[in-house]
Amino acid sequence: MVVDDAPSRAVLGLAWSGAARFAEMLADEGELRGLIGPREVPRLWSRHVVNSAAVARFLPATGSLADVGSGAGLPGVVLALMRPDLDVHLIEPMERRIAWLAEVVEELDLDNVTLHQVRAEELHGRLRVSAVTARAVAALGKLARLTLPLVERGGVLLAQKGRRAQEELAEAAPVLRKLGAKSFSVHDVDLLGDGESTKVVEVRK
Ligand SMILES: C[S@@+](CC[C@H](N)C(=O)[O-])C[C@H]1O[C@@H](n2cnc3c(N)ncnc32)[C@H](O)[C@@H]1O
Repeated sequence: MVVDDAPSRAVLGLAWSGAARFAEMLADEGELRGLIGPREVPRLWSRHVVNSAAVARFLPATGSLADVGSGAGLPGVVLALMRPDLDVHLIEPMERRIAWLAEVVEELDLDNVTLHQVRAEELHGRLRVSAVTARAVAALGKLARLTLPLVERGGVLLAQKGRRAQEELAEAAPVLRKLGAKSFSVHDVDLLGDGESTKVVEVRK
């Protein structure tokens, strides 16, 4: 299931081995523990683990990161492996998902990660970070309300989105401005150079 090839090595760099171990853990237990659907197992590596690196190029040079609605650890665990210099907060309200994330953090020896078993809104006014990431958590307007209060001035929200990213952004624009967004755009990221792009919405505060 893990494909050891030049494109995935180029994307993940030094994080490749950790990401491969994470993919193995997910393949062994992800379905049983309700973290991923059965149809996802064969495409775990490219569609989920490697794909989590799509936002990495937009992360700040220094600072802190919160992955909201981390679930199985996507994209937060992969980003924590890629950026050991960042303080990474994984925010996930469900107890059994937090238990899973704790096992992953221990197995991968991730000493830059803090787990928070809360809803993102419970951290408003208590946690401020340079960047927030989120993948498959909520439509952009709602996601912005959950996450932008966690982003410090000058920071960024990076949302991995599906094909409707541009429409979602147009719909959410008034909410984004009200929440202090200074600029926003959609990027098409072709990670593996195979023509399959991932859409990343970048919202600067
Ligand atoms: C569909 S899953 C996606 C998980 C992961 N990001 C991924 O791409 O596979 C959405 C996750 O968001 C979490 N979630 C929902 N509402 C949330 C909130 N208000 N704050 C933080 N997490 C939330 C859910 O518990 C769930 O684990």
